[in-house]
Amino acid sequence: MNIQVITHPLVQHKLTLMREAECSTGKFRTLTKELARLMTYEATRDFKIEEYEIDGWCGKIQGQRIKGKTVTVVPILRAGLGMLDGVLDLIPSAKISVVGLQRDETTLQPVSYFEKLVDKMDERPALILDPMLATGGSMVATIDLLKQKGCKNIKALVLVAAPEGVKVVNEAHPDVTIFTAALDSHLNEDGYIIPGLGDAGDKIFGTR
Ligand code: URA
Repeated sequence: MNIQVITHPLVQHKLTLMREAECSTGKFRTLTKELARLMTYEATRDFKIEEYEIDGWCGKIQGQRIKGKTVTVVPILRAGLGMLDGVLDLIPSAKISVVGLQRDETTLQPVSYFEKLVDKMDERPALILDPMLATGGSMVATIDLLKQKGCKNIKALVLVAAPEGVKVVNEAHPDVTIFTAALDSHLNEDGYIIPGLGDAGDKIFGTR
């Protein structure tokens, strides 16, 4: 399985606070952002670097910078937006590509109703953001879309994953690593992750 569960104590502590039934909108939103920030640190660990010369206070020295085109962050509407600021805290220069998906009532497959992607997708690493990896349908559709645009280096950042969704994404796109704070038990009959977080979008936006 191409999945990395981030077991850092801060990540697990914060995720547990989010699981509390009485977690307020403000607290849930803040924790979503904080977790996204911590997970970005792990998900970017293998970014390539290059040496370059800078003028230091005592003369010229060799420094390092991230090689290649700036990463694009891809929040899936709407809940993925909750993770965006956390990623931007660490990568303020990131380019943002937004994807909106809805279910086609005939085929039951996710279809794109909104996409605004940055240029040169074929040269950028992409970090897809969606708090909940449930059935995996939206994630696979988003990865399909990015690959159609030439994206070659794609990672998925989710707060909680269901085994069912991980299987679907891994089978469709074995090259895409899923970073998650938790791999939970299963999906219930309504498509919610158990124990999960409930409806993450509603909790982030206060629409519950
Ligand atoms: N989306 C959510 O917000 N929560 C789930 O448990 C599954 C999908």
